[in-house]
Amino acid sequence: MIYDVIITDAAIIDGSGDKPFKADLAIKNGVIAAIGDLHNLSAKNKIHANGCVLAPGFIDVHTHDDIQVIRQPDMLPKISQGVTTVIVGNCGISASPAVVADAPPDPMTLLGKKEEFVYKKFSEYSAAVNAAQPSVNVAALIGHTTLRQNHMDKLDRVATASEVESMREQLRDALANGALGLSTGLAYASAIASDTDEVKNLAQVLNEFGGVYTTHLRTEFDGILDAINEAFDISTYSQSPLIISHLKCAGAGNWGRSGEIISKIESLAKDHPVGCDCYPYSASSSTLDLKQVTEDFDIVITWSTPHPEMSGRTLKAIASEWKTDLHDAAKKLQPAGAVYHGMSEADVRNILSHPLTMVGSDGLPSDPLPHPRLWGAFPRVLGHYSRDLALFSLPEAVRKMTSLSADRFGLSDRGKIGLGLAADLVLFNPLLIKDTASFSQPAQVAEGIEAVWVNGVLSYHQKQLTGERAGKFLPRSRDLRKGFH
Ligand code: ZN
Ligand code: CU
Repeated sequence: MIYDVIITDAAIIDGSGDKPFKADLAIKNGVIAAIGDLHNLSAKNKIHANGCVLAPGFIDVHTHDDIQVIRQPDMLPKISQGVTTVIVGNCGISASPAVVADAPPDPMTLLGKKEEFVYKKFSEYSAAVNAAQPSVNVAALIGHTTLRQNHMDKLDRVATASEVESMREQLRDALANGALGLSTGLAYASAIASDTDEVKNLAQVLNEFGGVYTTHLRTEFDGILDAINEAFDISTYSQSPLIISHLKCAGAGNWGRSGEIISKIESLAKDHPVGCDCYPYSASSSTLDLKQVTEDFDIVITWSTPHPEMSGRTLKAIASEWKTDLHDAAKKLQPAGAVYHGMSEADVRNILSHPLTMVGSDGLPSDPLPHPRLWGAFPRVLGHYSRDLALFSLPEAVRKMTSLSADRFGLSDRGKIGLGLAADLVLFNPLLIKDTASFSQPAQVAEGIEAVWVNGVLSYHQKQLTGERAGKFLPRSRDLRKGFH
């Protein structure tokens, strides 16, 4: 037998959280075909690991790459971090199924322009992903806000029974065609008027298919415990696992509460499958939200439709130049995007290090000055938080971005190194790995990512795209009604 690839003398971290072991690994036809001492076997390509770690490709569980994977399929910001699968459709916004008649409502603007929302059915979206063949695999959630805007004339009210029925029909069709589940973004103006019953009635459909419920909570500020209770209520009602998106304690009044919030989630997780994701930074980013304007911390404008020249400047500096207050300056800038330096680092570490927490970037690919998480989230966890600060071991860091994530989202042949599993692999140097993306220079590839294979195809090597792309649409492959593994 001639293998496609043999990687020799690697320190294999298999995704389970176990210690590394020395072995060779062979790939054939897109899957992991052998692990062991393979020095005497032949392959079309042999690559020596040279002291590097070989791990399952990272799964970015929290992305807004819905349209980006088609628009710019090389996906350099992600493949250059060792990411081999992205989960799109988070925070209530998905590119499909969508019919956008006027301007897309905030925050669907984060995904793309009106003319880019062309996937009326989920099957059209998955076909477009496969046709574009991005460098990474794509699995998708369906956004509550997208469904609302498909069926409602105004988003500042609760949906009627017949509107909810239309939304359920679309969600059902998407789940039948491989969507992973439903996401909500209840904090945003486009969804905050929906009540718990609206979401419950929609989420109920998940249970027919074994899908997952993910949520950007109704608030991440002072009322976060009530918001977690609401999320739990929705997910238990629909008998579906719950994932809390980008868990954080937002706002100065809320700093120091991560212990309390984690205890709450631990106690809920005893009775029902509950998990969360987190990005490794103490600044958030989204559209500019007037409700979040404050003097407590810096807010940096990343884009503004009426004032593009203000990108990169603080709201405070803009307001003083305009001789107005922060609120009026923010109003004048809208629609706009912002980075909010609104978390405490201690809370970020506390949440990131918890065993239930997965890594997700929440990167915003359409932003002209994106938060550096778009390019740096995964290397930052491995380098800064695991190696430099010793917040957790390297195998634990890898588990948080591989097997835990695959398990939570029902991607059964990914997230681990094992015979017969998909050959989504990353080879990285544990001594050199480092995020280089910064707030002022965010578009930087990380140090220390040596090689990345997607479905067995070498896609990124020595800081270069190879030109080969082998990602595909990944349908939900496990019934999540059975809970997590
Ligand atoms: Zn969100
Ligand atoms: Cu998000």
